[in-house]
Amino acid sequence: MNKITECIVNKNPSVTPVWFMRQAGRYLPEFREIRKKNQNFIKLCLNPDLVTEITLQPLNRFDLDAAIIFSDILMIPYGLGQKVEFKKNFGPKLGKLDVDTIVNIKPEEFLNKLLPVYEGIKKVKNKIENKNLIGFVGAPWTLLVYMFNGESPKKNFDINIINKDKSITTKILDKIEKIICLHVDKQIESGANIIQIFDSWAGLLPKEELEKYCYKPTLRIVDHIKKSKVPVICFPKGIKKNYENFCSIVKPDCISIDYDTDPNWMKSKANGIPIQGGMDPKILLTEQENIKKNVKKFTKIFSDYPYIFNLGHGVMPKTKPEAIEYVIKTVKEI
Ligand code: CP3
Repeated sequence: MNKITECIVNKNPSVTPVWFMRQAGRYLPEFREIRKKNQNFIKLCLNPDLVTEITLQPLNRFDLDAAIIFSDILMIPYGLGQKVEFKKNFGPKLGKLDVDTIVNIKPEEFLNKLLPVYEGIKKVKNKIENKNLIGFVGAPWTLLVYMFNGESPKKNFDINIINKDKSITTKILDKIEKIICLHVDKQIESGANIIQIFDSWAGLLPKEELEKYCYKPTLRIVDHIKKSKVPVICFPKGIKKNYENFCSIVKPDCISIDYDTDPNWMKSKANGIPIQGGMDPKILLTEQENIKKNVKKFTKIFSDYPYIFNLGHGVMPKTKPEAIEYVIKTVKEI
């Protein structure tokens, strides 16, 4: 059995699989090389040969236990007919939200646009039989934020745009939810054997809105995925103490924690649900001794609890590849 499956399904605390969010990305010179020649990020995500090559880049360098398919959560708004661009030194920029286009797009149309993504997954699958292949989606809330806000909410975001016209918000959310399920099904059919749901902006929600926009829509997707028997990892970033409610309501197969979450606290509140991640990605920018101290902190806390080593968010572009290698070595020597 693959290591992540062993950890999540058999809840075996003696295996500590390791992989990284954003393990394929700008910190790797070989990724930057391909990216330089492919300025259009969406087009790059729709090139099955390059998707395969980029997905496998970190696995060719490091002793990782999983590949995560090279794609993006914003392929969903793209597939729904909203314009999506990635601007240098700015991040994603989305076009105007046309509610009618989005609500009326047919599943076949969506799948047709994203066909190369699934071809890429099949190609990767053929090359990594003995490792887990992670497919992923953005959670409804995080996709809604990008689709309404048009850009990262980091600099500016007004939560009221979501409440301005509730019937539009409900229509879009409903559609996103269905399309997420479809996109997940297709990834599984193509060879993904773990699914991760990224709710990167769950932390923007006030406590009283979490149930409506985070827990409930995510639960419906988790329940849908569970029918296929593929384990699902949830990453509701930034929700602080509400991680406890998230676990008891959504009951994911594995909960991924951010760098603000105390791993000991989570362990005591997760009710046996396997835990992933937690270490601050900034630690990887420091010297080896400090990296080792922090990695050991996590492996020690979780020595008697099913745990997947990962970070509390993605690998930062400034990270040296040697730091990743060192983390893996440190995790595996225990
Ligand atoms: O290696 C992997 O983790 C798989 C590939 C992956 C990417 N994006 C590739 C990517 C995954 C899992 C994502 C998820 C994603 N995309 C999230 C959720 C995780 C998170 O980071 O919170 C979000 C919010 C996005 C949206 C997105 N895509 C942003 C905000 C940006 C620009 C800023 C940034 O973080 O790089 C992207 C671009 C993107 N997606 C890059 C990569 C490798 C960088 C592209 C480049 O500029 O060369």
